[in-house]
Amino acid sequence: MTDPQMVLTDRVQQALAAAFGAEHADADPLIRPSQFADFQANVAMSLAKRLRRSPREVAEALAAELADFPGTVEVSGPGFLNIKLDDTWISGEAGRMLEDARLGVGTVTPAQTVVIDYSAPNAAKEMHVGHLRTTIVGDSLARIHEHLGNTVVRQNHLGDWGTPFGMLIEHLLDIGEEAAVAQLEAGMGTEYYQAARQKFDGDEAFKTRSRARVTTLQSGDPETLRLWHVFMDATVRYFNKVYGMLGVTLTDADIAGESMYNPMLQKTCDDLEAAGVAVLSEGALCVFPPGFTGSDDKPLPLIVRKSDGGYGYASTDMAAIRYRVHDLKADRILYVVGADQALHFRMVFAAARQAGWLPDTVSAEHVQIGMMLGKDGRRFKTRSGESIKLMDLLQEAIDRASVVLADRDYDDETRAEIAHAVGMGAVKYADLSISHDSEYVFDFDRMLGLTGNTAPYLQYAQARIRSIFRRGGVDPVDATGPIVLGHPAERALALQLLGFGAVVEKVAETTEPHRLCAFIYATATAFTTFFEECPVLKEGVDADTRASRLALCALTLGVLETGLGLLGVPVPERM
Ligand code: ARG
Repeated sequence: MTDPQMVLTDRVQQALAAAFGAEHADADPLIRPSQFADFQANVAMSLAKRLRRSPREVAEALAAELADFPGTVEVSGPGFLNIKLDDTWISGEAGRMLEDARLGVGTVTPAQTVVIDYSAPNAAKEMHVGHLRTTIVGDSLARIHEHLGNTVVRQNHLGDWGTPFGMLIEHLLDIGEEAAVAQLEAGMGTEYYQAARQKFDGDEAFKTRSRARVTTLQSGDPETLRLWHVFMDATVRYFNKVYGMLGVTLTDADIAGESMYNPMLQKTCDDLEAAGVAVLSEGALCVFPPGFTGSDDKPLPLIVRKSDGGYGYASTDMAAIRYRVHDLKADRILYVVGADQALHFRMVFAAARQAGWLPDTVSAEHVQIGMMLGKDGRRFKTRSGESIKLMDLLQEAIDRASVVLADRDYDDETRAEIAHAVGMGAVKYADLSISHDSEYVFDFDRMLGLTGNTAPYLQYAQARIRSIFRRGGVDPVDATGPIVLGHPAERALALQLLGFGAVVEKVAETTEPHRLCAFIYATATAFTTFFEECPVLKEGVDADTRASRLALCALTLGVLETGLGLLGVPVPERM
């Protein structure tokens, strides 16, 4: 354990137990970073009341118990503990972290199976910006859990089934397979859908054909299934282009779309009904999970089979949750999906618990994704009011990144590579750095800024460290120190770096990648100050100082690279 805040929490808890009895060993010592020392512990203030002693007395008793602490502990004010760590403790821990290939990030034992449902665009519609955010946040969570040693099962719950496929297949027959495939591969799903829809609404014969096609599709007619595959394969090829451009880890093997659950739906409903969990209500089969009521105070139904016998979104999610627990053996299931579906998931989870399909040992969590807004504060759209094509948006990010880098002296190929890394990094980081459930304003100018909490700033910080090593003719792996902390900026940087492992673990626990973003940004800022105040390669810097500073550079590089990697933000060698 190297994280200073965790080390301190532990030590102060021991002191609490020693001074006031074991029953206080679990009290939160309330350790916070402080401007007067490294940290401040505020526990004496809250404990004093319960012990009927003065806070100052309690704080002094704790300070006495912390006499052998590797630092200074002082009581200040009414009863705050000001804690300052010894430089040698910090440098020792930083040295150990440098030797550790995992940079202080632990592994989870026993490993958990974490099922992550993310991205999940709908076929037959353009993959829109809302799906961008669930794709990016979900992918980062997948990387982080994997890094911690958990078994991650990615599930791309594509919208690839349902009644619209009748008209989509009929439209495919009308325009011809080749034309349809070309259109879908090019990302014109929305146009395709709209054309089919228009015929459906205006042309009775088409409508009749489409309805009949739904039935043949449901019945598993081989030729209809073939056509469905033609449609889906072309659509997935387009999704894969987007994934490839973004550099997300989803592959075809992770596709577990709605269609996959179709054969399970009847049994899902039968089992729910037999168990008495689902009941017929006005012809529809419904679960009424306790605690859910509508505006009229009537119990709210989760409809698992409609009155016409058809299945819907909820039916599929009931089958999916059972599959994820029973077949995939999930310990944890993360649903990275828009916040507007919160009620749906709460009801699905409650119904699954009722049915006994989701035991208390398995946690199901909706990682709510906030809406993407335009700069005008409204839902993100083009000027003509249509939603924006994802590919166009990503391309624009790359083009703009290229402009930002215009003054750099690179050949075209290198420039294109860096622009790609910066453009995609900017889009991804902007999504990740804000808490996932808040609404988010999409703003190219801000996300591509070279200063502030942006990907380009962080990418630039790590590229600058690499250039120090290039100029010094040193390989970062050879920068082994020892680390000696003389300058306050060195000390501040080292102290900051020690928190890396704890923050990664915290992100996995809370599913909040923005905490890692904040940490990486603070690290880059601490490095910038260090770099301005502490020359590394300059003539006159003695050999020991140089070795120590290079070691700090190497550790910072490791943390920035690994941290950005866990976010899925690419790290260009130069910038
Ligand atoms: N396709 C859905 C949408 O675009 C998201 C699916 C999320 N996953 C799930 N198991 N329901 O809204």
